[in-house]
Amino acid sequence: MTSEWWRTAAIYQIYPRSFADANGDGMGDLAGISSRLPALAELGIDAIWLSPFQTSPQRDGGYDVADYCDVDPLFGTLADFDAMLAEAHERGIRVIIDLVPNHSSSDHPWFQAALAAPKGSAERGRYLFRDGTGENGELPPNNWESVFGGRAWTRVTEPDGTPGQWYLHLFDSSQPDFDWSNEEVREEFRRILRFWLDRGVDGFRVDVAHGLVKADGLPDYTPPAEGGSMGGAAGLEGLLEGALDELPSAPYWAQDGVHEIYRDWRSLLNEYEGDRILAAEAWVDPLPRTALWVRPDEMHQAFNFAYLETPWKADALRKVIDDSLATFASVGAPSTWVLSNHDVVRHASRLALTAENPQGHGIGPKSKGLPIAELGLRRARAATALMLALPGSAYIYQGEELGLPEVIGLPDDARQDPTWFRTNGERYGRDGCRVPLPWEGDAPSYGFGPSDASWLPQPTEWATLARDRQSGVEGSTLELYKSALALRKQHALGAGTLEWLDAEALGVDGSNAADVVAFRNGAVTVIGNTGSEPVALPESLGATVLLASGPLGSADGARLLPADTTVWLSA
Ligand code: NOJ
Repeated sequence: MTSEWWRTAAIYQIYPRSFADANGDGMGDLAGISSRLPALAELGIDAIWLSPFQTSPQRDGGYDVADYCDVDPLFGTLADFDAMLAEAHERGIRVIIDLVPNHSSSDHPWFQAALAAPKGSAERGRYLFRDGTGENGELPPNNWESVFGGRAWTRVTEPDGTPGQWYLHLFDSSQPDFDWSNEEVREEFRRILRFWLDRGVDGFRVDVAHGLVKADGLPDYTPPAEGGSMGGAAGLEGLLEGALDELPSAPYWAQDGVHEIYRDWRSLLNEYEGDRILAAEAWVDPLPRTALWVRPDEMHQAFNFAYLETPWKADALRKVIDDSLATFASVGAPSTWVLSNHDVVRHASRLALTAENPQGHGIGPKSKGLPIAELGLRRARAATALMLALPGSAYIYQGEELGLPEVIGLPDDARQDPTWFRTNGERYGRDGCRVPLPWEGDAPSYGFGPSDASWLPQPTEWATLARDRQSGVEGSTLELYKSALALRKQHALGAGTLEWLDAEALGVDGSNAADVVAFRNGAVTVIGNTGSEPVALPESLGATVLLASGPLGSADGARLLPADTTVWLSA
């Protein structure tokens, strides 16, 4: 079982626009990724996942694809991709790419053909075109709202110049949704999967994997409360597990019909050698519903967003870890773990927010409850140290290994996320977690590229966070990640088993025990202190400190685990 690499892998997410820029145009590219593979090998990850680099007008950072089988000139060429892939493989790093099947770009030739074709045509049948309501079709077909704000429908002008039908876009108006009941769409995606599998990719992260199929008749729907940004059945918290069929779900998320698509893809992947995988981006809850995506004949992994959304609180962490391990194991899948990605406020900031911040809204200068940077970083380091000790597969988002915070002060005119525009600046959106990486403290664009250019401005404080300033520096966040990943591998923690330890029984002072998360994974004992007071580490707990997310203290001869710190001890 555990010989399947994806069950235990540490997977590093690359957001190509912001990772490394080889040609100095201010935009990351594939050659930049190739040039930085040695740094990733040194970090100790097993695989990389690349957010989209395919041909796209970039209205949603590439999640608006105009040609699924080519590379956007911004990022290079197919030859650059092949070179990057070969080099990654040579270094023993697997490569997963993003697949965006819910929608294409409005620049996609199919959508352009649909606009030029009449109502009822085969061309329109690949997307979700509908007549409007109201006397003259001037109102949208239903009340659905876009995840990015505003309505989920846009009216087209027919080729003869008259106001015409409407098309559905759950995201930006430049991202029309495909009609997955159309066999032509299904066949096209089989072709796309094969195109990349034949090139040698190790798998796909499937975008909006919960959204492809819409309920028959596209019925009106009003979400129960402020939902997450990427969708999901908001408001389900607290409903009984085991009664999934009765849980309400939006008519555009988590429809049963999606599973048949993934069974089809799984059998296609099974034709290929070498453990190729599908990883679901499915923002659904509760966890047992997410597990439907990773039944044995569907996908291999699903992102554990329940874990990402868990606050830095011991009881909540214990519960989500327990639920995750049990739920995914019930279908024979590994649990995954993730704290940051290109859609959420970076965890070095998020874990110290003091006000509600719905997913996707982002933070900016006028947000409430802005984080104290030092506290956020301390918690992020502790949270990562906890995560990397858990059995299963862990995702790391580029830059978290440098302790990068969310960039809060981006100037309004630099922002590019469609969320910002579609909500008239009410939601800041996701640019703050997408700022290009600092590699060298003294170089232009901090070594992101050979010039000063950077598609989003980098804060001046990032000089001190640059990789070269942290490399080899004891106690730096980079060295913490390297050590954690090396120990994780050495002790096979990804393939391990978690055994909870009772903090009070271990001798942690009763009043603090509730703040402590303590478990053993094989030979490693892990203790995280989510409280605000230091706790004494009992002598019985093992002599050697393998890893500590921050300096430990001491009092009366006892070792102290300070607030917001995680330690790994030899058992
Ligand atoms: C989820 C992606 O992660 C996000 O960045 C994108 O905007 C939406 N899906 C739409 O493709």
